[in-house]
Amino acid sequence: MSHSFRAIVVNKVNDRFVISIKDRSIDDLPDGDLLIKVEYSSLNYKDALSASGVKGVTKDYPHTPGIDAAGIVEESKDKEFPVGSTVIVTGFDLGMDTSGGFSEYIRVPSRWAIKCPDGLSTRDSMMIGTAGLTAGLAVASMENKCEIRGSKTIVSGATGGVGSIGVNLLSHLGSEVTAITGKIESTELLMELGASDVVDRGEFIESTRLPLNKGMYNTALDVVGGAILSSIIASMNYNGVIAICGNVGGPKFDTTVFPFILRANCLIGIDSAGCPIENRKVIWEHFSSDWKLNNLERISRVVDLENMIPEIQKILEGKQTGRVLLKL
Ligand SMILES: NC(=O)c1ccc[n+]([C@@H]2O[C@H](COP(=O)([O-])OP(=O)(O)OC[C@H]3O[C@@H](n4cnc5c(N)ncnc54)[C@H](OP(=O)(O)O)[C@@H]3O)[C@@H](O)[C@H]2O)c1
Repeated sequence: MSHSFRAIVVNKVNDRFVISIKDRSIDDLPDGDLLIKVEYSSLNYKDALSASGVKGVTKDYPHTPGIDAAGIVEESKDKEFPVGSTVIVTGFDLGMDTSGGFSEYIRVPSRWAIKCPDGLSTRDSMMIGTAGLTAGLAVASMENKCEIRGSKTIVSGATGGVGSIGVNLLSHLGSEVTAITGKIESTELLMELGASDVVDRGEFIESTRLPLNKGMYNTALDVVGGAILSSIIASMNYNGVIAICGNVGGPKFDTTVFPFILRANCLIGIDSAGCPIENRKVIWEHFSSDWKLNNLERISRVVDLENMIPEIQKILEGKQTGRVLLKL
């Protein structure tokens, strides 16, 4: 097959990164044993890093971002994934140095794909996407250490992709969730997602004494890093579990050994991109059954290729709320 299709392409022009929509040919796609006709993709913070030339994400341009894709297998060299199967691909190198999901077609190694679980459409799966997988991995890591039901959780970057699904999932599982946000005007939305309390990000930082504050939370999901993470670590109860996955507020944080040696706190790093496929399957199965969330439509917006371009800039500025889906 060698017909053409449409994709978002980021090009390096002098020292600027220019985003446009281009016609591409199937022959331009990298090798791989699955050719997938993408039905939906979704926007994640990493896509904006790729689209703005951050070297640690994408080295070579022209490039098509999109770390998430869900669609139908159109050509297959792997009998586990026959033509016509519905699949989800997230992370690994997709959208980093492998042509990504902001495109009508992707070609990937079959070891990156999982079958879309019964009960989840391609659209449902992309409302979850890498953001949800990451929130899910964080929750699974908490569950390994403590009881979620009845716990008190704090979630940062609460209106963002990982944060909003994190708030919704943790409250669905019976935790009392405090949402930390820079968008206090989104309080009503966060309450609808299940937050019991919404705290302004600046107030939270200012009211916290480092390195040890009053212990208030049993579990934490942090996507921000920086001063927010310092304040979260200081505010955990004895045996607190803090899952960290992001750095939108900066990679460095201030703490000492005391929250760990006096309160037996535990800091856990979450990585969705390189996470083994077997672990992902467990999380996706949860999302199609006992973790099925009813509020995802409420926090998702669907755009086409043209309208995805301004959304990429918006996520880079921390101005997105919830999830942006790309319909192809
Ligand atoms: N480790 C992994 O596998 C993994 C996977 C997915 C994402 N991530 C990382 O997690 C982070 C969030 O990703 P996302 O896709 O959820 O992005 P997102 O949708 O943009 O959400 C980030 C949220 O953080 C808050 N925020 C933004 N800028 C901030 C700043 N300067 N200081 C404090 N808070 C700020 C905003 O929420 P409020 O306005 O509500 O505060 C924003 O909506 C990124 O760093 C991303 O790279 C990591």
